[in-house]
Amino acid sequence: MNIAVAQSGGPTCAINASLVGVFKQGIKTDKIDAIFGSINGIEGIINDNLIDLKRVIRTNEEMELLRQTPSTMLGSCRYKLPDYEKDSEVYEKIFECFTKHRIGVFVYIGGNDSMDTVVKLSDFLKTKNSDIKVIGIPKTIDNDLPVTDHTPGFGSAAKYVATSVQEIIRDSSVYSVDSVTIVEIMGRHAGWLAASTCMLRANGEIAPHLIYLPECDFSVERFLEDLRKEKSKHRAVIVAVSEGIKLDAEECGIENFQSGVEDVFGHKYLSGVGKCLERIVAKEIGCKVRSIELNVMQRCSSHICSKTDIDEAEEIGSAGLRAALEGETGKMMCFKRISDAPYVVTIESVDAKEVANKEKVFPQKWINAAQNDVSAEAENYFLPLIQGEVKIRLKNGLPVHFKREAL
Ligand code: F6P
Repeated sequence: MNIAVAQSGGPTCAINASLVGVFKQGIKTDKIDAIFGSINGIEGIINDNLIDLKRVIRTNEEMELLRQTPSTMLGSCRYKLPDYEKDSEVYEKIFECFTKHRIGVFVYIGGNDSMDTVVKLSDFLKTKNSDIKVIGIPKTIDNDLPVTDHTPGFGSAAKYVATSVQEIIRDSSVYSVDSVTIVEIMGRHAGWLAASTCMLRANGEIAPHLIYLPECDFSVERFLEDLRKEKSKHRAVIVAVSEGIKLDAEECGIENFQSGVEDVFGHKYLSGVGKCLERIVAKEIGCKVRSIELNVMQRCSSHICSKTDIDEAEEIGSAGLRAALEGETGKMMCFKRISDAPYVVTIESVDAKEVANKEKVFPQKWINAAQNDVSAEAENYFLPLIQGEVKIRLKNGLPVHFKREAL
């Protein structure tokens, strides 16, 4: 039997480590012959665009390098499968590809949208009385997948975001003039990543002075009030804001601050709230103000990745293949946290239906009454996820990345 693995959705620092986990488990399992990588997620299966991973990852050294290389070595996609009752053509193509390459297990590494593919595909294969198993491995910097304690990729992104905000704090406090610095952080409709900047308080920082999350109502009036209050206490005010806050274009008086472009799952590209708030502060408060959008840097910042995150990403990849070989299908692997200190997690499987197209938002119990900060309890949840450093391979003082050669 052969197996196939694919990566889907937005890049992270840890998605290649999960690929390595699947690959490592695959090469030590007797009943597996070839391990195929599908180019650009499920699109590679549909278009029969597979590569033989044993020809790509040839040595232990290459495996280690891939493990610490950010983004998706196999490329990615945002592809929504139709309902197979309505449109089965694409499913027949997938089945043809699986049959042609004797695929017995398909491992899909991705987020909530990718779990939609795991569900639909495993259901379709059952209608064909096929024995092919489909397993999901979680990943996303947004940390918004239900059931799992956290998602691979989040810990590294959180470590980068907190580190960057700390550097912004140092930078913004050098002058004697008053200033406001707004840092826009990814996360779509879940504020986990923006909230994780609270970890800086474990190291004695007071900032960020204000944290705004999509889980709360946002009012420009309250934001300006909060800001004036913080400005009366601090010369350089730092604001962490999640890209997904509900900023009403009418209330802020700035139309079209976001492109409005949507992906196939109907998710809007959200970037732009930081800039919009900057313009509001300039107009209403009139002090020095700057907005910083961390943007894609927070997804691929492997130079400061979390060892815990990378190790766990590999482990959950291996566990996924093992579960499929034991007969599981239509499942996503997940972490269950046993304790914060010492930090202990176990890996289990969950029905992918419980995750597909659903979002786990940041809990209200960790948001303060004024809805502009998060509580100290959240620190205990976040801190274990960013622990440890990976010894990054450097060349000429720069990180070395694994690059797939054209075969
Ligand atoms: O993968 C999640 C995410 O990084 C979100 O935080 C962000 O809103 C979105 O992806 C951006 O999508 P894209 O990579 O398609 O620009």
